[in-house]
Amino acid sequence: MTLSEKKGRILSGHRPTGLLHIGHYEGTLRNWAALQDDYECFFEIADWHALTTRYDQTADLPERVEQIAIDWLASGLDPERSTLFVQSDVPEHAELYLLQGMVTPVSWLERCPTYKDQVANLTDGSGPGFGLLGYPVLQAADITMYKANVVPVGEDQLPHLEITREIVRRFNNFFGDIFPEPEALLSKFALVPGTDGRKMSKSYDNAILLADSIDEVAQKMRSMFTDPEKLRMGDPGHPDRCPVFVYHRMYQDDPERIEEIKVECESGDLGCVNCKAEATEKLIEAVGPVMERRRELAANTDYVRAVLAEGAEKARAVASETMAEVRSAMSLNLTG
Ligand code: TRP
Repeated sequence: MTLSEKKGRILSGHRPTGLLHIGHYEGTLRNWAALQDDYECFFEIADWHALTTRYDQTADLPERVEQIAIDWLASGLDPERSTLFVQSDVPEHAELYLLQGMVTPVSWLERCPTYKDQVANLTDGSGPGFGLLGYPVLQAADITMYKANVVPVGEDQLPHLEITREIVRRFNNFFGDIFPEPEALLSKFALVPGTDGRKMSKSYDNAILLADSIDEVAQKMRSMFTDPEKLRMGDPGHPDRCPVFVYHRMYQDDPERIEEIKVECESGDLGCVNCKAEATEKLIEAVGPVMERRRELAANTDYVRAVLAEGAEKARAVASETMAEVRSAMSLNLTG
């Protein structure tokens, strides 16, 4: 498919907050990887956004950025087809953020629910930073810099997308039709439970990481919570209350076998140990190749950095065109 035949442009991104887990893989990355067939894609590691809450902890930032890039590449984001780049490698984003900030009423930012949450959880006595308030403006700059029409994100990002659309409308209204209004594309978020049955999250320490070894995955699966009423072999179970059953649903491709597992669990014939072993085998069949690729990439960080360097160049080529257009529309171009 040539570029002009594609359905449009995508930009999405992650903050480099830590190693990604199979919840990210199932809920986001597989989706992004599939979209590469139909869209021209830009995927951004939003390191500046990470500083909106952790500006005093930058020493491990390069490491975190590299690890996200490795997770992405292992998950099938393809630098031959997509542009993978680091936000801070494209300083044009800061300029567009500044200019879009001019047209953004502070009240829009103050009532953003993610901002209100963050402020409620602040432990720093100096109060919310200007950078934190401006988070959605920076995200608008990320998206509009590439004139993306589609932004695949989770539901938590919808308020930011709405602010982006409002900024676009206001900006275009003053300066001409420069930016398209981007649409959110909600990932059908497969809610992956962690080993304790709660939503998988690194902060709950219940996550199966793409960086785990096969042994670690097996160990974590063995420790997974099950139906609390099924204590020993022979007790009838309740698959709908059991996180292991969610794994069967996700990774067992034979629907008849899923039904059988349900029946065998409910009757007590299938014990949790065997049930988990079967789920683990299917999980490893599906995600093992990603984990394997991840190991190879982690041993070849020169390649990973080269991908990001090339991505930065491609992103900057687009960004400098957009900024030339923006400067001219805003009459900021007297000297060229
Ligand atoms: N705010 C997003 C998150 O926390 C990360 C992000 C930064 C982003 N810029 C973006 C997502 C642009 C989509 C588009 O996950």
